[in-house]
Amino acid sequence: MRACRGCVPDGCVGASPLSVCAVVDTPAPTVTPIVTIDVEDWRPQIRPADTERHARELEAGAVLVLPRLAFRFEPDEARFLNVRWSDGKAKNISFDGASIRGATGPAQDLAALARMIGRFAADATALVTALLPRYAPWLARARTSYRPHGAAGRALSWRKDDTRLHVDAFPSRPMCGQRILRVFCNVNPFGQDRVWRVGEPFEAMARRLLPKLRPMIPGEAACLSALHVTRGRRSEYDHMMLGLHDCAKSDLDYQRNSPQREVRFAPGTTWICYSDQVMHAAAAGQYMLEQTVQLPPDALYEPRSSPLAILERISGRPLLAA
Ligand SMILES: [Fe+2]
Repeated sequence: MRACRGCVPDGCVGASPLSVCAVVDTPAPTVTPIVTIDVEDWRPQIRPADTERHARELEAGAVLVLPRLAFRFEPDEARFLNVRWSDGKAKNISFDGASIRGATGPAQDLAALARMIGRFAADATALVTALLPRYAPWLARARTSYRPHGAAGRALSWRKDDTRLHVDAFPSRPMCGQRILRVFCNVNPFGQDRVWRVGEPFEAMARRLLPKLRPMIPGEAACLSALHVTRGRRSEYDHMMLGLHDCAKSDLDYQRNSPQREVRFAPGTTWICYSDQVMHAAAAGQYMLEQTVQLPPDALYEPRSSPLAILERISGRPLLAA
């Protein structure tokens, strides 16, 4: 929310005329905004003014939904829409362009499955480049995942339970301010929606939950790195992001009563969000493809809206210092 002169973020004070506030003050959304984009091609032609608008919506914490953008299967690939290709141990099947993990089956079939996932990786990357062209030189593609299992019903600890509202944060992989941009596509062949709950905007969540987090202990980052718990040193930013992830998931009152809404993604729908910023919970659905892209803060159109900038503003200090 932008406060006008004479106002504080929570409303007007003193003798400030309310009519002035109404003109210059745009109310902050109470839950994550959903923005629909009507494209049906993974490599769409988008006008520069529209790419700029989509980037600012995304970076402000919206979910961009493309209801007519379906992943196209080759004729012999429909057979992969079956949980029997999962090895039953890993949560997802994933592919990094060279090796496939979490899958089981004859080598020839796994090679075909890898080609399918690789084609989604190329499509998703092309889409991000077309929608958000300023990101193109910075894109670092992480593993692509195919999720044949249902979103709900797996026996997991509360910390791994993604049916609870959370922002994504990696315990073993410090991001040090790098963003987590994710492209999802519901490929369910039985007409089943992917159902999310989305929560309040990042800043509102952070202001509510940060006071409950324990501070980082001196020497903690070095210790975790030396013990190979983390790959590299965990920054204070990563400590806070993990703390917010855990704090939200472990707080059942927050899960039930914080601002939230249900969003349904029909089969054949693609959606994009910064999952380190959007409070999300996967409530239901089965069969989804997902591509993660990492981006440095310098790549952003509006760095001030990033979780790093927000957490530094709230805490009043840099969070990436060694
Ligand atoms: Fe998540």
